Amino acid sequence: MQNKYLAMTPPMGWNSWNTFTWNINEELICGAADALCASGLKDKGYEYVVIDDCWSLKQRDENGRLVADPEKFPNGMKAVADYVHSKGLKFGMYSCCGTHTCAGYPGSFEHEFVDAETFASWGVDYLKYDNCYKPKHIDGEILYKRMSLALRNCGRDIVLSACNWGTEDVHSWIQGSGAQLFRSTGDIQDNWQSVKNLFLSQLDKTAYSGPFCHNDIDMLIVGMHGSSNNEFIGALGACSDLEYRTHFALWAIMGSPLMIGCDVRKMSAATLETLGNEDLIRINQDIECRGPYCIRQWNNPENVMALVKPLSDGSLAICFVNLSETRSEMSLQFWDLGIPYAANMGLEFYNCYTKENEGKFAERYVAQIEPHDTMVFIAKPAKLK
Ligand code: GLA
Repeated sequence: MQNKYLAMTPPMGWNSWNTFTWNINEELICGAADALCASGLKDKGYEYVVIDDCWSLKQRDENGRLVADPEKFPNGMKAVADYVHSKGLKFGMYSCCGTHTCAGYPGSFEHEFVDAETFASWGVDYLKYDNCYKPKHIDGEILYKRMSLALRNCGRDIVLSACNWGTEDVHSWIQGSGAQLFRSTGDIQDNWQSVKNLFLSQLDKTAYSGPFCHNDIDMLIVGMHGSSNNEFIGALGACSDLEYRTHFALWAIMGSPLMIGCDVRKMSAATLETLGNEDLIRINQDIECRGPYCIRQWNNPENVMALVKPLSDGSLAICFVNLSETRSEMSLQFWDLGIPYAANMGLEFYNCYTKENEGKFAERYVAQIEPHDTMVFIAKPAKLK
């Protein structure tokens, strides 16, 4: 049953948590599915519609099964899954490896196999699996292996999105668990500081991601503009559109899953442009799923850097980022990318924001970057003469 191409590249889709947290229902989830289609984002690769925490009743039924809250989901979960599938999308849900979910609903601890069966019977394609109320005496590794085994044997292809927030050195054992993605960070907030911190926290972990097992830096806040109903997520104000674009570029080149967190039924043109940038999506979805390496600007190494990701067609995806508060220079020496001075080779630069071919460059590419901004290129080695 297991599809060998399940989540080969980072999953893309939408998740209810960042904007709506507890306030979810059938109308919202079906509306999000409609909006992914109508906006064109589905055609660009966003395929999972995921219901996060707060979907169930507080008690299991008499057979020990999870029950969807009939007030929020009056037609049951199967009906929601069927609707999402009828749109050509895939359906995701949420549970937790502990006794309760983070919001206090029943968790899957010691119910892993029966819950996997329930999810399969509803038509679930993706399970986000959280880390709250985990019994202290059991390693997380055991519990993620359990749910992975349960899903791999439930009779349906279901992606396991492990969400242990980077604890217990998850990057070192998650491959072996069979999960397809692993949350490596605490929860994102809708502000620039959070984007910067989460990105920097994973710069030394880029080698631990790859096809079928992706480092999840958390769901996107692009386009939220302070709309979360949750105080923690909304703390410290929102980002500017430029900062959201930077956030998206960093997540894309880092190979993080691209799970939209804003209200997709109400996106501005700027939000849609950022989320729909096909060149950035192509960089994120490159079939080899290599993590980028980082070249720092010599005179401002903490704030200004280039991320370089080898793509399967021989070109390099390059993202310049300026994390500082002032306009700064990034000077990328091609020597550092593996191009010797005497080789008569340069790089042909294509700009992923302006969509312009900038021509051939020899030895280096130098750019001024605005505060909190990025420049993203696809650079192809080319003979100079
Ligand atoms: C944790 C996760 C979040 C979200 C909430 C739900 O905090 O990290 O992404 O799923 O739980 O309660």
